[in-house]
Amino acid sequence: MVNTIDPPMGLVAELTHRCPLQCPYCANPVALHRSGAELDTATWRRVLHEAAALGVLQLHLSGGEPTVRKDLVELVRAAAALGLYSNLITSGVLLDAPLLQRLVQAGLDHVQISLQDADPGNADRIGGFAGGHARKLTAARAARQAGLALTLNFVVHRQNLTQLPAMLDIAEVLGAGRVEIAHVQYHGWALPNRDALLPSRAELDRATATVEAARQRLKGRLVIDYVVPDYHARRPKACMGGWGRRFITVTPAGKALPCHVAESLAGLAFPSVREQSLAAIWHDAPAFARFRGTSWMPEPCRSCDRREIDWGGCRCQAFALTGDASRTDPACEKSPDHATILAAVAARSTTPPDFTYRRYTNAREIVD
Ligand code: SF4
Ligand code: FES
Repeated sequence: MVNTIDPPMGLVAELTHRCPLQCPYCANPVALHRSGAELDTATWRRVLHEAAALGVLQLHLSGGEPTVRKDLVELVRAAAALGLYSNLITSGVLLDAPLLQRLVQAGLDHVQISLQDADPGNADRIGGFAGGHARKLTAARAARQAGLALTLNFVVHRQNLTQLPAMLDIAEVLGAGRVEIAHVQYHGWALPNRDALLPSRAELDRATATVEAARQRLKGRLVIDYVVPDYHARRPKACMGGWGRRFITVTPAGKALPCHVAESLAGLAFPSVREQSLAAIWHDAPAFARFRGTSWMPEPCRSCDRREIDWGGCRCQAFALTGDASRTDPACEKSPDHATILAAVAARSTTPPDFTYRRYTNAREIVD
């Protein structure tokens, strides 16, 4: 039989859930894996080989915080030898100049550093890591000095949006090639913190105008990616470029997922790279086929002219808000569940409540 499924463009390798930060919008699952459950170096090396053979072009080394892995340099070297374009997605707080040098020598192509705000005090408060902001700036400068392509990532919300112009200034001054201004998406740990994070429509509109003006001013010098919050959108985004179409994620413990949140979906069994090859999983796993393409879609998606543009939105958001991953994403105005989004926006409190941070001592939040 001829296989008609295109290979994934990117492998997202979640090397660990360990992280020194505690961002209240963390996209990692509510239940985290202990370090003892992580894949070992040999297994990751095999997965990288399988990814290259499958046709993957880009490797995103992610977490948690990937620099806590002692074998990070070795994995970057393995990726380079396989011809994979490697991107390190990091908080930057552990990324010092000697480690950067070793990563560059191993063949790292790109680094993406996340910042919590332009204001150091608020950034450290949001990330729950004193002194973290200064370390991130140092790491970003070192990355540029080491000759790496640099992207800065700012996750924005109601508790840092007034700093948006200063965030763009930081990206410009540091010589980043790209900055992502990404409004929080309400998955994982962000959902219980939704009221503390969700901006008003007016705050969103001001932010959008700021981004549009900056795009004009910085044209040709800085690329600005802008991700708007679903809760104020009329149509959802094509989450991950569509289920099982563009990316394959491997969790620290080896589960292969179509997106980083998919393990939260009840009723789907995700295969492990410990037991199956990446190619077998991508082409044959029922959990990857479940929401691939358009044949699974209910109305109104089934007859909608955007069904091959947004692929019905986000399965994880549909599950989180309705308990059924096969429903149209409630972020869509045409969804029968859109009232859940409108209710959340209407219930937004005038003053944001305190953040709820993860407490890693809580056994329910860590799984083996
Ligand atoms: Fe997208 Fe479905 Fe909404 Fe159409 S109905 S815009 S396909 S989510
Ligand atoms: Fe899983 Fe959107 S986060 S499909």
